[in-house]
Formats: sequence, C-alpha cells, structure tokens
Amino acid sequence: MPAQKIQEKKIKDFVKDRYGQIAKKRAASCCCNGVSALKQAQAIGYSLEELKNIPDSAILGLGCGNPIGLTTLKKGETVLDLGSGAGIDVFLAANRVGDGGWVIGVDMTPEMIRKARLNAKKGGYRNVEFRLGEIENLPLHDESVDVIISNCVINLSPDKDQVFREAYRVLKPKGRMVISDIVTDKELPEDIRKSFPAWAECIGGALLRKDYLDKIKKAGFSPVKILDETIYLEEGMSEKIKGRIISIKLQATKARKPKQKLGDRF
Ligand SMILES: C[S@@+](CC[C@H](N)C(=O)[O-])C[C@H]1O[C@@H](n2cnc3c(N)ncnc32)[C@H](O)[C@@H]1O
Repeated sequence: MPAQKIQEKKIKDFVKDRYGQIAKKRAASCCCNGVSALKQAQAIGYSLEELKNIPDSAILGLGCGNPIGLTTLKKGETVLDLGSGAGIDVFLAANRVGDGGWVIGVDMTPEMIRKARLNAKKGGYRNVEFRLGEIENLPLHDESVDVIISNCVINLSPDKDQVFREAYRVLKPKGRMVISDIVTDKELPEDIRKSFPAWAECIGGALLRKDYLDKIKKAGFSPVKILDETIYLEEGMSEKIKGRIISIKLQATKARKPKQKLGDRF
C-alpha cells in the first residue's frame, strides 16, 4: 500500500476509535468544550422546539451548525446524511420529509450506527435507515437522493476529493448538498495538521476555505454558495489556532442534466 494510503488509514482508524468511545459514553469531544450537549446544540443554531421532537440520546453536541435549518426540505424527499453520528440531523430531516419521505444516515463507526438505530426505535421512526459505511465509498446507487446534508464530518476525511465525487454521484440532477463544516482562513501549523487527536477534534484535517470550496467545484457542483460563517474564539483555545477556525455553512447544487437514457435518442 502506498505510504499516503497507510497514513490515511491510520487517521481514519484513530477517528473511528474516538467516535466509538464517544458513542459508548455519550461524552462529546469535537467542537464542544465541556458545555452540555443540549446547550451546545442550541448555541450552534438548533431551536429547543426542534430538539424536543427527537430522541434526546441523539443529541451528542458534535455538530458545528444546523444544516436542516439552512434548507427547505419538502414532503416526500429522500435525504442522505454524511457522517450521521447518533442521528440528530437524520431525525430532524425525517420529521420534515414525513412518512412519504426517506432519510438515510451513513457512518463508518459501528457504535454510532448501533446508537442511531436504537434512537430510531426509541423515537418510533419508520422513515429512517442507518447504513454502516464510509463517505468516500457511499453504499448508495447513482442519482438516488434529492438532498445531502452533513454536519462537521467532511473535515475528518483524509480524502475530501473522493467524498465530494461520491456526493455528486449519488445526488439526483438538480439535487442540493447543504453542509456545515470546519475550515480555516490561514494554514494551520504542521504539528497540528499531523496530530491524530487534532484530526479527531475536527481541527487537524480542516482545509483552507478556498481549497475546500475548490474541491466541491472540482467534483462538478455549481453554484456553490456560502450561507454563513462563524469564527471560533473560545476561551482556552491554543494561540496557534485562535481566530483561524471557522464553521462554514454552504449549499452546492448538482447542475448536470439527467443522463440520457438509450431509448430517448431514438
Ligand atoms: C463530529 S461527529 C458528527 C456527527 C453528526 N453529524 C452530528 O452532528 O452529531 C463525526 C461523525 O462522522 C463519522 N465519520 C468520520 N469520518 C467518516 C468517514 N470517512 N466516513 C463515514 N463516517 C465518518 C464519525 O464516526 C462520527 O460519527
């Protein structure tokens, strides 16, 4: 295996192990700083009303925005959540798309999938499903979803080009992707970019904003619109990263027309 692939696998294994532990003990690490998960969720844009209508054990305080709050989901739509964790955004989406819709959460950490499935049972959800898998190799057919959401996950992937290619592949033409994620506005120091714990905390793998947006465009999305940004300036943050860590919210559209069916040409 090439050295780069070995390194990517090591990062992923570390991240998976860390989120496995979080799923088991309900403690949050990424983007939280010890604040209660419910308070953290409200601070990043969820309303108490929304949160009251989903299982409370789905709220782990791991997100960096509220992607559902940034788009209008229609009844009957099929939604995919990349890195669904314990299911917070899957359940919120399910409440919006209704019984005729379908929401799929994909996550690579078995303990998270187990927790999310238990939460679905607890909440009596019949329009959701959780699939164990990697966002670099989505377990979904081409052009099968209307909307992709993702909350504080893609920064954790060592191969973001592949994530955006996969997102493009599974979206229906004119489908939209609404993301909340971490980017930076200055290159982070090398020791942070190489630190596995910093990766798991959604910092080590964060790209420069421009590089992140370029990768989305390179996958074929157009237009790509920034909806909002928040700079993290929390107390206790290391001076090395203070003021450089940004939560970005964006919407990207799959512009391409539907593939021509063989029969359509004759
Ligand atoms: C910071 S948590 C966010 C969870 C959820 N989106 C939320 O807001 O609560 C990151 C999640 O992404 C998952 N994850 C990280 N990298 C992944 C990958 N390459 N493929 C699939 N899941 C991944 C982790 O297992 C974890 O559950």
